[in-house]
Formats: sequence, C-alpha cells, structure tokens
Amino acid sequence: LSKVEIKLADIPEGKNMTFKWRGKPLFVRHRTEKEIAAEAAVNVAELRDPEHDKDRVQNPKWVIVLGVCTHLGCVPIANAGDFGGYYCPCHGSHYDASGRIRKGPAPLNLEVPYYEFPDDDTVIVG
Ligand code: FES
Repeated sequence: LSKVEIKLADIPEGKNMTFKWRGKPLFVRHRTEKEIAAEAAVNVAELRDPEHDKDRVQNPKWVIVLGVCTHLGCVPIANAGDFGGYYCPCHGSHYDASGRIRKGPAPLNLEVPYYEFPDDDTVIVG
C-alpha cells in the first residue's frame, strides 16, 4: 500500500507508536508540552544535521518519521537515549524528540515522509 491512514486518537500523549509504510517502520509520536518546548528551544547551530523542529513537523504535537536509523538502517527504540527521543542500539545513535541526530554515528536526522492531516484525528502518510 502506498498510503497509510492513522487514527491519532489511538496514540496517547507521550507515546510513540510504530506502523508499517511501504515496508518500513513508521513512527508517530504524540509529544508532550514539555517535549514540544524543549525541541523548539534547541540551538540549530549545534546540530549535525541542522533543522529547526518547526521545519520537521506540521503540528508540534505530532512527530512523523521513518523508524530507520540513518546510520545502517536499524530500527531505533522510542523514548530512549540521552536526548529522550529515540535510541538506535545497533551502534549507539541518539535522536531527540524531533527525530534529529544528536550523538553517535548516524549522519542525518530521521527522515520525515510526506503526510497530511485531512482532519484533526487523522494523518495520511504517503
Ligand atoms: Fe543505528 Fe548504526 S544502524 S547506529
């Protein structure tokens, strides 16, 4: 299936859920107010792959990224690692709650796929 439709009400605040899209894991994360504020405040100049949080999300509550580590493609673990976002156990890459690489060997941020919100409770990815 080239598109996947996800009901956002099924994902509690503070949780990340994993879906499958085009054969790859897809993460949908319902961020807390604290996470939203922390990611918005990150100094982009200090990042390996400099991207502002606002350029990675359409709605700050929802982070939608591929669950594929940009080092060698393992699936990171949610809500783990030194930056509270994702941790890749294969070789120790730490991502923040925007999916940006912060520490470890991965060169790039987790990829943001094309998606849209047809209504407040639905996201369609693809
Ligand atoms: Fe994730 Fe190497 S594949 S750190």
